[in-house]
Amino acid sequence: MIVARTSVDLAAALGPGRVAGRSIAFVPTMGALHDGHLSLVRIARGAAPVVVASIFVNPLQFGPSEDLEAYPRDEERDLDLLEAEGVDVVFLPETHDMYPEAASTTIGVGPIGSILEGADRPGHFDGVATVVAKLFNMVRPDIAVFGQKDAQQVAVIRQLILDLDFGIDLVIGPIVREPDGLALSSRNVYLKAKERARATALHRALKEGEAVLRAGEDHPEAERVMGEALGAEPGVDLSYAVAVDPVTFSEPKRAGPFLLLVAALVGATRLIDNELVEL
Ligand code: PAJ
Repeated sequence: MIVARTSVDLAAALGPGRVAGRSIAFVPTMGALHDGHLSLVRIARGAAPVVVASIFVNPLQFGPSEDLEAYPRDEERDLDLLEAEGVDVVFLPETHDMYPEAASTTIGVGPIGSILEGADRPGHFDGVATVVAKLFNMVRPDIAVFGQKDAQQVAVIRQLILDLDFGIDLVIGPIVREPDGLALSSRNVYLKAKERARATALHRALKEGEAVLRAGEDHPEAERVMGEALGAEPGVDLSYAVAVDPVTFSEPKRAGPFLLLVAALVGATRLIDNELVEL
């Protein structure tokens, strides 16, 4: 496994494969890797002969009151995990290389950037789109693998690829969960024991919303039931519980498909989860 810390090293690592016409599958991450990330690496492995992963905690997607400094980092462990999964190249850029002082261009993702996660985290998706566009330009992958865990991010990246003509195949990996339903997240390490137990409320609420839709009720009823389930949970502060169209994130059609989305503060930790429901 080659560890590239600059874009020049990355280009050198990928050059021979490019010349030989080998396609590249790319998995961008912010590190603190768990099985969710590794599931994406396995999908990438099955999709292309060359697998590139990146680890970069992107300051542009953190708000001023968010956890940039405290974000979990464990480079050595992450590299071991990626090597064990057969990753060919890991790109680990430094912040000052990604964003030299003179840099001033960013990407604006439009209206989807200011709803739901974007409403709670202004500028977040512009920051995500900007770093992902830069990574796409440096890695130049044929395939990019993202997780359904961050459903709104998937919608943003799908639009980014279309709008800026990246010509990259987007592959979406399913959400990897703990046995009790909690979606794996790098932020789960912040949860204290009591909060960890309460955090399962997100998945339970989604399952209740799904049951409502499957029973033939309409999506406002599913939203109400999910909101009520999360609202009733002590120590859980509901941010939103909605049903949207999975692609446009606008009002879903009467017959679906539906994307159920929940977000809540559990203690001081913000968690998100979602479930796709096709009737
Ligand atoms: P990060 O939160 O590290 O996530 C990297 C990728 O792992 C994302 O595509 C995310 O959706 C996926 N992922 C996280 N938890 C998962 C789970 N439980 N099951 C399956 N996939 C999961 O998302 C980012 O980093 C950043 O925004 C990034 C795209 C790297 C840009 O900075």
